[in-house]
Amino acid sequence: MAVRPLDSRLDGRRAVVTGTRSGIGRAWALRLMAEGASVWCVDIRDELAEQTAAAIGEGGGRAQAMHCDVGDESSVAEAVGGPVDTWGALDIVVANAGTAIPRLVHEPSLQGWEMVLRVNPTGVFLTCKHTTPHLLETGVGPS
Ligand SMILES: NC(=O)c1ccc[n+]([C@@H]2O[C@H](COP(=O)([O-])OP(=O)(O)OC[C@H]3O[C@@H](n4cnc5c(N)ncnc54)[C@H](O)[C@@H]3O)[C@@H](O)[C@H]2O)c1
Repeated sequence: MAVRPLDSRLDGRRAVVTGTRSGIGRAWALRLMAEGASVWCVDIRDELAEQTAAAIGEGGGRAQAMHCDVGDESSVAEAVGGPVDTWGALDIVVANAGTAIPRLVHEPSLQGWEMVLRVNPTGVFLTCKHTTPHLLETGVGPS
């Protein structure tokens, strides 16, 4: 599905969105593009992040897909450095990637629960840890 630009209030801004394969992350990526931002789409599922980036390109926007496991620190550091290396800086971060075990609480194994913790809180922590220095450098991060 191609998206059309809505307005230009984010023109020139460079965003990274984690978990852009589907759902909320894909919607974020398309909306940021529609408002003028370039979007670095990262996901553990490469081919579907590429589809999101392709949809942005078809709509006239600028996007790049990149593999990233948000629970892996070196993977996160490399992925969030991508827009800085390619587009010069980072302005916007959406730490969206997440997972869940859609079962009653007594059903998942401890191993399954630890996988959720690795992706959800740890993934958000690592995304913030490795994007904040870039945001501070751009001058849009926390002060
Ligand atoms: N949908 C809801 O009602 C709801 C409600 C509250 C919170 N959330 C949270 O919002 C976020 C998005 O939810 P959604 O419904 O769009 O889910 P979704 O499953 O459609 O999308 C999650 C995305 O994260 C990616 N992902 C999973 N593990 C990853 C990893 N290790 N590294 C990188 N990417 C990974 C998936 O491939 C997918 O693209 C999640 O963090 C979810 O917990 C969703």
